[in-house]
Amino acid sequence: MSKAAKLELDGKSYEFPIVEGSEQEKALDISALRNATGHITLDDGYGNTGSCLSAITFIDGEQGILRYRGIPIEQLAEQSTFVETAYLIIYGELPSREQLRRFSDLLTQNQNLHEDMRHHFEGFPATAHPMAILSAMINASSCFYPGLMGRANSGRFDVHAARLISQVRTIAAFSYRKSRGLPIVYPKPAYKYTANFLHMLFSEPYQEYELKPEVVKALDLIFLLHADHEQNCSTATVRMVASSQANLFACAAAGVCALWGPLHGGANQAVVEMLDAIHRSGDDGSKFITAAKDKDSGKRLMGFGHRIYKNYDPRAKIIKAACDRLLAALHASDPLLDIAKRLEETALNDSYFVERKLYPNVDFYSGIIMRALGIPLEMFTVIFAIGRMPGWIANFKEILHDRNSRIYRPRQIYTGPTLRSYVPLDQRA
Ligand code: CMC
Repeated sequence: MSKAAKLELDGKSYEFPIVEGSEQEKALDISALRNATGHITLDDGYGNTGSCLSAITFIDGEQGILRYRGIPIEQLAEQSTFVETAYLIIYGELPSREQLRRFSDLLTQNQNLHEDMRHHFEGFPATAHPMAILSAMINASSCFYPGLMGRANSGRFDVHAARLISQVRTIAAFSYRKSRGLPIVYPKPAYKYTANFLHMLFSEPYQEYELKPEVVKALDLIFLLHADHEQNCSTATVRMVASSQANLFACAAAGVCALWGPLHGGANQAVVEMLDAIHRSGDDGSKFITAAKDKDSGKRLMGFGHRIYKNYDPRAKIIKAACDRLLAALHASDPLLDIAKRLEETALNDSYFVERKLYPNVDFYSGIIMRALGIPLEMFTVIFAIGRMPGWIANFKEILHDRNSRIYRPRQIYTGPTLRSYVPLDQRA
């Protein structure tokens, strides 16, 4: 017999079914709640709300576990590549050699923007943040592919998905070149995904960028580690927009906007700004930690804490080790890495952070690795967006193929004025 939860309300008893996931996560299915009781649930920040069933990513925040389609992130980080992982996330299985070749070919065939898109870049001021350009240009791309619109064209999903994954990287590189007043560098079909991005970012018409394998590998790992993270703010945004049957590019553009904020993807930029400010002030980090614990200071230890992880974020562990490896391979050092490690050690031994279970998250070390790769600060969140694209696409696809999918439409508890009459302008106090 399937389990149910009992609710006693106003002297009446109700039963709600319990839904169990493949990893024994449990939920009360309250979809009949309002019709049955006249009540809704209220869950500020959606901390207790499951908005969907999803088969893409599993996280156990208490234990610090992250798996894409069942495969531990540690194994993928060690053995896979971003492109292969993107395939896994979108299609649900690791590709065969032939499937991987076809997927890579599709990415290459779709890497060029429509030439008319170049004119759009001219309209942005040099000071424009690349995240603003990225979301605007992804949305603008949809105008060039009318077949994108509507569910009727879901048969072209593979091409559109490949186009988005491939072109987001081209748009990102073009926006960076534009912001620096540099000539645009076109993608090279001979290069693989991550190498091609570095080429478009850093090559000059008169000088090819020298691709170092350790640099390419480190950036590929960053993309892979960001590839999905279940129902975070930007992915939930993508699903929200997709539920209205908007096209894939419109959904991804909305995802970019949600990702931009400093409490979400913007944290990687904010972490480096914080570390840099600590470094310049001569603080060893202790003053900053004191300020971060004081609610009135307006400061937080950026790169620490997570809604889901109440343990070390497994991605942070991998990035921290990769950071050490990369700096050693490049024979480089970074004072910000030393400060970050000191902050981490202090915070993990401080009762404020211990009691609240605040641990380093993915953004704590990712900025330092991107600095070592020569990625400019304002591009950090863009790198996150490029990496997250497969996750957004896979979530879009779940909605696309779900025949029972309904438009997302939360309710509210109204707290404004009760009924009152309109007062004409000349009678107002
Ligand atoms: N520094 C200092 N105090 C913190 C921090 C922090 N980084 N994070 C949470 N707290 C405190 C918070 O003040 C609250 O204290 P109290 O219980 O006394 O009121 C308690 O810990 C719980 O915090 P919360 O804000 O209710 O937690 P949340 O789940 O709503 O927020 C978070 C999660 C990630 C937004 C938050 O931890 C934060 O602002 N972290 C810094 C920004 C950051 O690193 N964001 C990247 C997140 S990971 C990548 C991604 O998803 O994009």
